[in-house]
This record gives sequence, C-alpha cells and structure tokens, in this order.
Amino acid sequence: MGHVAAQPFLEQLNDQEKFRNYQAEARSSVKDLYRANHTQQTLDFVLGKKEQYGRLDHAEMGVWEVIEALNEFVDDSDPDTSLPQIVHALQTAEAIRMDGHPRWFILAGLIHDTGKMLSVFGEPQWAVVGDTFPVGCQFSEKIVYPEFFAENPDSRHPVYSTPNGIYEPHCGLDNVHFSWGHDEYLYLVTRDYLPKEALWMLRYHSAYPVHQAGAYPHLLGPEDAEILKWVKAFNPYDLYSKRETEPDVNALKPFYEELIAEYFPAKLRW
Ligand SMILES: [Fe+2]
Repeated sequence: MGHVAAQPFLEQLNDQEKFRNYQAEARSSVKDLYRANHTQQTLDFVLGKKEQYGRLDHAEMGVWEVIEALNEFVDDSDPDTSLPQIVHALQTAEAIRMDGHPRWFILAGLIHDTGKMLSVFGEPQWAVVGDTFPVGCQFSEKIVYPEFFAENPDSRHPVYSTPNGIYEPHCGLDNVHFSWGHDEYLYLVTRDYLPKEALWMLRYHSAYPVHQAGAYPHLLGPEDAEILKWVKAFNPYDLYSKRETEPDVNALKPFYEELIAEYFPAKLRW
C-alpha cells in the first residue's frame, strides 16, 4: 500500500479542493466519485450512518411522493443512470411487469433507487451512489478503482485489513456490513413491508463486486446462492431497461399508486 509521507497538509488541501470543485460544478467524473468513496467508506463511517438513518426520523413521505421529489432533486452527476430518476424508475418497473414477474418484483423495480433521498438529506454523492462492497475486512482488488483504497485508514487496520476481518468465514451476506449508500438505506426503510426476495434486490443491487465480479466468496453463506440469484434476476432490468419512448407518467401513476398501497402505508418513515 502506498505511503504518503512528507506533505500531509498539502495532501489535505488537494483533497478538499477536489471535493469543492466537485460540489461547485454539481458534477464530477465517476473516478472522482470513487476516489472520495473509497477513501472515506470505513467500518466506523458505515456503522455511524446505519445508526443515524436507522432511526428513520428524517421524513414521513409516501413512496410516490418520494419518487417525484427525487426527480426534482437528483442531478445528472449520478453515475447510476443518465436518465431522469422517474423515467429510470418507471422503465425498470415496466420492463419487469412486461416479463410477467410478481407484483413485489415490479415494486422493487419502481423503488430501487428511492434510497437516494439521502442526497435530499444532505449526504454527499460518495455516500449515496456507486458500487457497494463489504467493509470491516480486506478491500477486494475486484472493486472498481481498487487503488483508491490505499488512502482508506481501514486498509492499514490490523483486523479490518485481513481477508475475513471482523467476520466469521461464510457468515453470509446479511451479516456483512456494506459500504453506505442508497441500497442499505432503502433496506432499512422497507424491511418491515416487502418479501425477502424484494429486500435482497434493494439491499444488494449495487453490490457489483459480489454479484457480478464474484468477490468475497469466503464470506458467502449457505443462503447466499438464493440471494444472489434474485439480485442477478433484477440486475438486467436496472441496466438495460432504457427505451426510446419515455413512459407516460400520468397514465402509469394509478397502477403504481395501487401497487404501492398494496405493500406500504400511505406515509412511510424515512
Ligand atoms: Fe441504484
């Protein structure tokens, strides 16, 4: 791992400057996002955010209300999609619906990115979007831009830098802390309301190092083949559901309002 020696003060200035530029321009390259993400997503950071947002005391809003709010708010620096949020939500859901999947699967498609309410609550992009990965154990080389982990303090921690870290081998994904972002947040918001298969899709849809690159096999438990099967079933709808024609939001709204009401209370705690 690279050692930064002589000029910690200048180093800090550079980092702050990058971050300020990024905020000022309201957009940044994906690379800058991952630099900020990989240097700051530590186990302590994740545990703190789980505590803070797990209280669900940030807002009481209906699901459709959140989808509309996000459409107004989330800017085009989001690396997840180049589409307006509501278009991506409806195209994902409609593609799932077209394939005849269960109603909870369609609903998962509709809401999968609503955890980006974190941005509305003031979280920086690096703590909201991007691929997610386990923390509290060695960062995998299969994570995008692995070189940026050199500046993450956990990569020098005596326990967190080991392959299993704080975990028992094969403890299972649900026992692993993932980097903080919209996936884990939405899981905390919805866990009392949706079937477990839907919750797996929401919680792990950005865990590309695990569900696509096959990293962390030593942490996977007996139930995880089933979890990954559903996450992988969801993934193509998230990635490839772009259509040339934009969905007619007003025409689709009644169907989705009814679907939302089937699973969620009128106001949900965020
Ligand atoms: Fe997402």
